Formats: sequence, structure tokens, C-alpha cells
Amino acid sequence: MALNVVIMAAGKGTRMKSTIPKVLHRIAGRSLLDHVVLAAAELGSSRTVVITGHGAAQVEASLEGRGTHFVRQEPQLGTGHAMQQAVPSLDDANETTLVLYGDVPLIGTETARKLVAACAGRQLALLTIELADPSGYGRIVREGSQVRAIVEHKDATPAQRAIRETYTGIMAGPTRLLKRWVMALKNDNAQREYYLTDVVAMAVAEGVPVVAESAASEAEVAGVNSPLQLADLERAYQLAHAHALMEAGVRLADPARLDVRGTLTCGTDVEIDVGCIFEGTVHLADGVRIGAHCVIRDTRIGEGAQVQPFTHMNQAVVGARAEIGPFARLRPGAELGPEVHIGNFVEVKNSTLAAGAKANHLAYLGDATVGERVNYGAGSITANYDGANKHRTVIGNDVHIGSNCVLVAPLNIGDGATIGGGSTINKDAPAGQLTIARSKQMSFAGWKRPKKAPKVT
Ligand code: UD1
Ligand code: MG
Repeated sequence: MALNVVIMAAGKGTRMKSTIPKVLHRIAGRSLLDHVVLAAAELGSSRTVVITGHGAAQVEASLEGRGTHFVRQEPQLGTGHAMQQAVPSLDDANETTLVLYGDVPLIGTETARKLVAACAGRQLALLTIELADPSGYGRIVREGSQVRAIVEHKDATPAQRAIRETYTGIMAGPTRLLKRWVMALKNDNAQREYYLTDVVAMAVAEGVPVVAESAASEAEVAGVNSPLQLADLERAYQLAHAHALMEAGVRLADPARLDVRGTLTCGTDVEIDVGCIFEGTVHLADGVRIGAHCVIRDTRIGEGAQVQPFTHMNQAVVGARAEIGPFARLRPGAELGPEVHIGNFVEVKNSTLAAGAKANHLAYLGDATVGERVNYGAGSITANYDGANKHRTVIGNDVHIGSNCVLVAPLNIGDGATIGGGSTINKDAPAGQLTIARSKQMSFAGWKRPKKAPKVT
């Protein structure tokens, strides 16, 4: 069933104490609002209307190209007033309109779907939750089992304040009726605001059934108003993610110390130690082990590869059974074949290393093509940049590069060549030969080291 979704995002978020509009703060690397827009899309919304106000231009820019409609609400005179601004943008062909909050990011699509089904284009469906401490929230007032009204905390009588069933702010209603009700709202209440919640009493007065559905968890209806609430929801999100991974067989050293900001897919027998961050799209094949405190973004890691602690990877491909780290850095375009070893303080950028190649310590490989079984010595670097252009270094199979070499690109090093340690190589080195480019070692017989003059006291 096609659907309108209205997302309220005009509020200020004073308690965030931030210059960034509240709904642009992030959970799992995505803005709060983006989570809600994604949920709307998953629900099959054919028209998503975002109500902006505070930081409107910035909020709207953050959703560029996403097909959402925007309406501005200035000033902000309450949720009912916000909804009034959205009325002209609602598509009458959609019988149901769902209202979501841009600062309630983890709304479950299953719950929202239940609410939309309960509305069915004919009834007013409210998402509610029982809270141990309901203060501040709108209370669900019932007569018998029938919902009669929502009363805001500030307008509630002491008896109503004792009610623990609260309104989450999320509702689904018949588009045509909601439009009419919203335009008839008044602001004669304690806060002089237009309350969207007053549509409940209007529905009751017209004999339109009002139904309440309860939320599946507090996290899915929790709003973000402060840095603490933001962090709490981040942890709730990450824990749920960690549990899903473990259910699929991934072994996490500690589900409370994992952060996935994007999509992480794993084969069987994958182990992940504490403190790792995965961003963008990451795939770990069967038997991959990730050591503690790695940051891995947009990377594929092949079967049985081992990644030691404190390794960074960004847009890399790692071959099967490779051994990477600790303290390794793979930058965009690093493509490592099977059984490649990259050790501590080695940086690889825009380079391919064929099967079995090794760079175990303190090295830089940039814009290089490295053959099979190459041994790339400690402290060696490709000088790939002449200040204006990048050049390639091509190293054949079975080459041995000694320690502390500078390979000045463009450069070809033939199969089986050996480069003596400490060489600066700026001409092609032939296959199979030893090439050395450094001054000859000399010793001076009879040379005396200068002596310090004796101290005068
Ligand atoms: C509202 C409900 C209350 C419910 C609570 C749940 C009303 C009158 N009350 O409370 O019953 O328990 O949510 O959190 O609806 N917003 C706008 N424009 C405005 C006012 C608000 O876009 O003029 C947005 C805010 O940015 C926020 C959301 O609407 O995302 C809710 O606003 P907030 O002021 O937090 O809720 P209340 O009105 O206090
Ligand atoms: Mg308010």
C-alpha cells in the first residue's frame, strides 16, 4: 500500500549544545534524519515530506538527491503547526499518512508497518509505550479500553499524570481526515502550541476508531535530545548489530566493543577482537581474524587472512591467507594477493602486490606493481611523486629489495633482481642481477678519534 510519510525535523535541539542541527547528529555514521528517511523508504513511502526549521538549509542539503519533499516551518509553533505546513504536500492518492520524528532514529520498520496496517486508511493508529517515568510525555487517556484523547504532561490533571501509557509521537492516520483535523487545530493549552495530538479527540468526536499499538522496545521510540541520549542510542544500535552478527556465527570478543558504521558481512568462523570499527561496506571471508583496535573501511578481506591489532584499511582488497599488521596502513587501491605479508609501519597505496610478496617493516609502496614472492626490505620506499605527477614502480617476480632503498619512479626492476641495501635507484634494474647505487665503503687505518681536553678544576 502506497503511503505518505511526514518527518518532523524543525525543532532546535537546545540540549545538544551544538551548532549542528540536531537531526544531523549521527548514529552509526549516518545522520538521525537519514535513519528515518531510510525507514520511510523501506516502508514503501511514495511521498516523504520532511518538515524543516532550525538549520533548514543544512538539513535539506543533507538529503539532496534522495527524493524527499521539504516544507519549512518558521516559527515552530508545535507539532500540529508543523503538520499544517505539510498538508499541501501530502499525496491524496495515498490513503494513509505516517508521522515520524527526525530525532527518533531507530524506529523499527516492523513496528511502523504494524501501525500502518492498523490504520488501514480508515482508523487513527497511535504508537504508545508504557514508561516507568512518563513525565514530560503525552498520556493516553482511555475510557474503558477505548482511547479517548492524548493529554500533554503540562495540561494533565494529577490523575492523568499517574497514567504510564504514553504517546511516542508516532501515528498513522487516514490522509483525508488528518488534513481536515490538522487545519482545525487550536492552541488553547498550557504551552500555546498547536498540538497534533488533539486530532485524537477530534477522531473520537467523529466516531473514527482510534487504536493503540505498543512499541517493541524503548530504543525504537527513544528521541535524541542530548549527547548522552545520542551515545546511549548508538550503543543500543551497535549492540543489536553485534547480536545479529553473533547469531550468524561471528565470534566477537566483546559485543559491547564493536562499531559498525555501514554494512559488515562475514563468512563462517570469523573472529573479531575488541575495539574494531568497520565503515562503509566491508566483507570478511571465511576464517578471517581481526585483531584489536583495527579501523577498516570499504574493504574486502579474503579467506583465512589474519589482521593484527591497530591496522587501518581504506578501500583495499586483501587476499586469502594474507598477514597484515600490527600497525599497518592500507590506503585506497591497495590490492594484495594471497599470502602477502604487510608488517608494522608499512603503508601501501594504489599498489598491487602479487601472491607471497612481503613488506614486513617500515616501508612505503605507492603506485607500485609488485610481483610474486618479492621481499621488500625495511625502510624502503617508492619515490612516486615528483612534485607534480605520480609515477609507477614495477617490480618483477622474486625480486629482493634490500633495506633503506629509494626507488625513484618511473622505474622497472626485472624478475629476480636484487637491489643492495641503501641504494637510490633511478634507472631500470635488469633481471637477475645485483644492482647497487651508493658510495663505496672506505676505512682509514691509523685514524685517531679527537680527544676531549682534560677538565681544569
Ligand atoms: C510530543 C507529543 C507528546 C509525545 C512526545 C513524544 C505533541 C503535542 N506532543 O511532545 O504527546 O509524548 O512528542 O516525544 O505532539 N517539532 C517540529 N516543529 C514544532 C515542534 C516540534 O518539527 O513546532 C518536532 C521536533 O523537532 C521533534 C518532534 O517534533 O522532532 C517532537 O517535538 P517535541 O517538542 O520534542 O515534542 P512535544 O511536542 O513536547
Ligand atoms: Mg515541545
